[in-house]
Amino acid sequence: EKGGYDYFMLKEIAEQPKAVADTLLGRIGADGHLRLDEVRIPDAVLREADKIVIIACGTAFHAGLIAKYAIEHWTRIPCEVELASEFRYRDPILGQRTLVIAISQSGETMDTLMALRHAREQGAKVLAVCNTNGSTIPRESDAVLYTHAGPEVAVASTKAFLTQLVACYLLALYLGQVRGTKWGDEIHAVVRELARIGDEVERVLDTMEPVRALARSLADKDTVLFLGRHVGYPVALEGALKLKELAYMHAEGFAAGELKHGPIALIEEDLPVVVVVPSPRGRSVLHDKIVSNIQEIRARGARTIVIAEEGDEAVVPYADHLIRVPATPTLLQPLVSTVPLQVFACELATARGNEVDQPRNLAKSVTVE
Ligand code: BG6
Repeated sequence: EKGGYDYFMLKEIAEQPKAVADTLLGRIGADGHLRLDEVRIPDAVLREADKIVIIACGTAFHAGLIAKYAIEHWTRIPCEVELASEFRYRDPILGQRTLVIAISQSGETMDTLMALRHAREQGAKVLAVCNTNGSTIPRESDAVLYTHAGPEVAVASTKAFLTQLVACYLLALYLGQVRGTKWGDEIHAVVRELARIGDEVERVLDTMEPVRALARSLADKDTVLFLGRHVGYPVALEGALKLKELAYMHAEGFAAGELKHGPIALIEEDLPVVVVVPSPRGRSVLHDKIVSNIQEIRARGARTIVIAEEGDEAVVPYADHLIRVPATPTLLQPLVSTVPLQVFACELATARGNEVDQPRNLAKSVTVE
């Protein structure tokens, strides 16, 4: 059942190109328009939404953080992302025109379920992004957009995460379409790129051997830090979460701009720091700023592990280890930049003798609040 792989997690990492393609299947028309008729929320509701609130836990929460960048940029609807476990206890402001998006692989996470119940009681409409047909969260929501990752067995989420991103991008683009957002060249380019992103994920998977070797060489470290900016920031959080879950190491993700406000004090000789670099095209200011961050931490002795797009030469002089990912539109980069971090955590966990599919103290779906 592991299809020749030692662990479900390895199998599920390898299945990502297919999971992504399956989640896109039939949802982008030949004319580049989105077809999400299956989402039962009437277009009028989507047109009138004046606020979007995303609720989720764990890895799904990180997908939500990335979705916020896409939703606000493409639709101009204000979007908040909140840990489901915090949401209802702070008396959030919700109304008829609030669209709540609940993201959950299992569809059974109690924190997320309680948050969505609260949202519906307050009159908000809830749309679930879920991987499990007929599970509780979609059943209790007004609408559902299913991810088609197939069953995910390993506790640490991989292919479900990538498909949650795809579903959120589709949803954001669909919202833009329904609301008549002007579709400029940027959006057309994004849709085209999204339609073929599975191939790019495949290309990343084909180049992971050096990442595995690097992970094994770090097996005796205590701490790894992760830095990112823009959508690379949630990717950094996800990289750190994976390492905690699987390798039982101290791992923290930071927004690179915050480095100078505290985390830089942690930098010491030979500390591994993974940096997710935004594209030098597009938001080039951010790219330049993060290159300075890499210089700063390296000057203080950090061992820099740099994830940068192909053709980005500016990072080369400061990267002790360079992991290349294909060039994509900025907002889509997490679909390729998360993959090396999954492989990295999985391999490091194995090198430390840990049980990859069933990490200690964790469960695949947590049905208590
Ligand atoms: C956790 C799992 O407890 O629940 C994580 O261990 C997962 O991997 C989180 O991200 C949320 O789960 P779900 O099913 O709601 O996406």
